[in-house]
Amino acid sequence: MKEKLQKIRENAIAQIESSDGLAKLNEVRTTILGKKGELTAVLKGMKEVAPEDRPKVGQWVNETREAIENCLEEKKTKLEAEALRLKYESEKIDVTMPAEKHLTGNLHPMTQVKNQLVDIFGSMGFEVYEGTEIETDHYNFTALNTPQDHPARDMQDTFYLSPEYLLRTQTSAGQIHVMENKKPPIKIISPGKVFRSDDDATHSPMFSQMEGLVVDKGINLCDLKGILDVFVKKIFGENTVTRLRPSYFPFTEPSVEVDVSCFQCGGKGCKLCKGTGWIEVLGAGIVNTKVLEGCGIDTNEYSGFAFGIGIERIAMLKYGINNIKLLFESDLRVLEQIDD
Ligand code: PHE
Repeated sequence: MKEKLQKIRENAIAQIESSDGLAKLNEVRTTILGKKGELTAVLKGMKEVAPEDRPKVGQWVNETREAIENCLEEKKTKLEAEALRLKYESEKIDVTMPAEKHLTGNLHPMTQVKNQLVDIFGSMGFEVYEGTEIETDHYNFTALNTPQDHPARDMQDTFYLSPEYLLRTQTSAGQIHVMENKKPPIKIISPGKVFRSDDDATHSPMFSQMEGLVVDKGINLCDLKGILDVFVKKIFGENTVTRLRPSYFPFTEPSVEVDVSCFQCGGKGCKLCKGTGWIEVLGAGIVNTKVLEGCGIDTNEYSGFAFGIGIERIAMLKYGINNIKLLFESDLRVLEQIDD
């Protein structure tokens, strides 16, 4: 009997040792210790053992069982540790591996500049008025002191939709709508698309402007210059100053062309400012009394100034873009470089 048990034990240990996984080990456990297992068979056969030998044989069986169980337990611990090691191995992260590059979008330079303009003027108390891209001849020209036969109409090659309707050539058209609908004090900006039949490196048939209009008591050119000085410093840098030159627009009198000191060379003269130290950035002036009166505003009491900024022009100057088409082509190689 002892030999038989020894055999069972050796056989069991060999099977346990050769188990190559937890599932296999479980199988082995059932075949050895289960109801149909060899050891159970021995226990069942105890009846045949002589009564005086039973305690002895019982002890052997127990010892065998214990030894097998210990061996199973040991193997189980080993296999579990191995399984965990493999799991960790498979989940290992190489922290030195370069990260996958994620493409993050950014706002279009035109949107960036428009937002900056709106922020700057918004911080000075200007409200935003959005006009419409389709206008009547009246709002785009006549009410702006530019009647049918006025030579200034030639300054802007207009896309007419009908004799009456056109694509607005200037955001100035919005000035009239605002003044017709609101009593002074008026302090608005109006960004939007405008259209002119014009096409070269610095002009596009569709471009964007931002109109500014202030109407209040005692408004004069100094107020205009003060506001524009704040604007150019914020957009082109603290050291930028403005210069007003006489100009002509039918709806402003006097009219001015506003230059900024060249923010690239500081005024010494460079390629950007064509050696002059100054860069032209916008048109402006004191609102013509004829325009105010046309909108029912008492010019004895009120006066105003207006300005029109070309947004593409500002973006091109600010970001060193030499062809306006780059702002319409959506070439990511260009757009990715501009993120203020
Ligand atoms: N509307 C003018 C233009 O498009 C600019 C401007 C606006 C000039 C307001 C004076 C006052 O050229």
